[in-house]
Amino acid sequence: MPQIHFSVCSAAYMALDQTVEAAELERTFIAIKPDGVQRGLISEIVGRFERKGYKLVAIKLIVPTKEFAAQHYDDLSSRPFFDGLCDFLSSGPVVAMVWEGQGVIKYGRKLIGATSPQASEPGTIRGDLCVQVSRNIIHGSDGPETAVNEIGLWFKPEELVSYTKNDEKWLYE
Ligand code: RTP
Ligand code: MG
Repeated sequence: MPQIHFSVCSAAYMALDQTVEAAELERTFIAIKPDGVQRGLISEIVGRFERKGYKLVAIKLIVPTKEFAAQHYDDLSSRPFFDGLCDFLSSGPVVAMVWEGQGVIKYGRKLIGATSPQASEPGTIRGDLCVQVSRNIIHGSDGPETAVNEIGLWFKPEELVSYTKNDEKWLYE
């Protein structure tokens, strides 16, 4: 009997362990663009991700070069607004971050809202805090592959901090 009890416990422990690991594995790249920084919205934006229950694993303030901005927005290079977009992203400090949590890539985009603030729902970051598509204050990776590429572009592996946060046991079962 004690043996059965032991195996049930370890199975439950393993299941819990896997859930937490799965939650830890998903990471996304989020950037507060120069307009968000200049408008004093850093804490507002960080706070929304924090309050949702996501974990900050990397953060830095950086003024990207125009070349770097072009690399970041490489997929949009044929669009008419590309040059202006790269000029804008490289025009001042950007808060580059990596956030971690279950479903953070997709749900992070929901927190951010639609690309154009005119279409973003109230309650979203863009819906609540900005007006124009070319000044939409925040960037978020649009899928798992993009997330990996963008995290790799903006951060060295040693800049990502893996740690256990005390609230995880209240966020994940
Ligand atoms: P982001 O990459 O910045 O998170 O934005 P997104 O996925 O919602 O939209 P995306 O299509 O990737 O566009 C990137 C950024 O380009 C600017 N944009 N300007 N003038 C325009 O019509 C226009 N369209 C897009 C926006 O700053 C957008 O966030
Ligand atoms: Mg995008």
